[in-house]
Amino acid sequence: MSRKIFIAGNWKMNTTLEEAVDLAKSVVQECKNRGDVEVAVCPPYVSLSAVAQVIKGSGVKLGAQDVHWEVSGAFTGKVSVAMLKSVGCEYVIIGHSEQRQYFGETDETVNKKVKAALAGGLKPIICVGELLSERENGFTEKVVEKQIVGAYKDLSKEDALKTVIAYEPVWAIGTGKTATPEQAEEVHLFIRKELEKLYDSDLSSKIIIQYGGSMNPKNAKELLAKENVDGGLIGGASLKGDQFKGVVIPQ
Ligand code: 13P
Repeated sequence: MSRKIFIAGNWKMNTTLEEAVDLAKSVVQECKNRGDVEVAVCPPYVSLSAVAQVIKGSGVKLGAQDVHWEVSGAFTGKVSVAMLKSVGCEYVIIGHSEQRQYFGETDETVNKKVKAALAGGLKPIICVGELLSERENGFTEKVVEKQIVGAYKDLSKEDALKTVIAYEPVWAIGTGKTATPEQAEEVHLFIRKELEKLYDSDLSSKIIIQYGGSMNPKNAKELLAKENVDGGLIGGASLKGDQFKGVVIPQ
């Protein structure tokens, strides 16, 4: 099965407008010779529009880091799907563990956001992953299963085919502790089997599953060599063009 490799940079709450423009220029330059690899950058909301101008024509795609599920109205501080579309977003990260940990994101809100994104023509990058304590107590599969079932609740196959999944073990995010390629592969395969249960093998073989958590130029090649690891959602290493290139075109 030939799934495209998809590397996305999640810039999180980093970069001012000027820094974001510079970083986007660097990504375009550094990732010029990426061949078939799909590349996206996910800057903070305030820089989306400016970054869209920089990446225009480069093939680098734009993503946002979150979205609200309502169409419009009195939701102070929130951003809608239509707003993200209007500045050129193609992707949106949904259910990141930082949203789950610090901002009350639940499987239910993830599901609402996924549905809203798809209805408005954005492709969701759905994040799942276990805490360290959950892994240590043998609950990794239970946790990931619940997150997957929740995210895809009442989603048609047609819609589900437009989603991307990012497996991000929480203990590996920003810690320098990467999951071993074997640990990542094990959970990615588990996710694929879950998708097969929810839909069918045709769908499960097509969905891109990224790995996220301290992925960098040193470990990218080994992780991406695994059969079910189809890309990466990159935090720290996406904040420097040359580092990001090291993941997009690993040596
Ligand atoms: P780091 O690459 O900094 O560990 O972050 C991963 C992540 O959370 C991407 O969404």
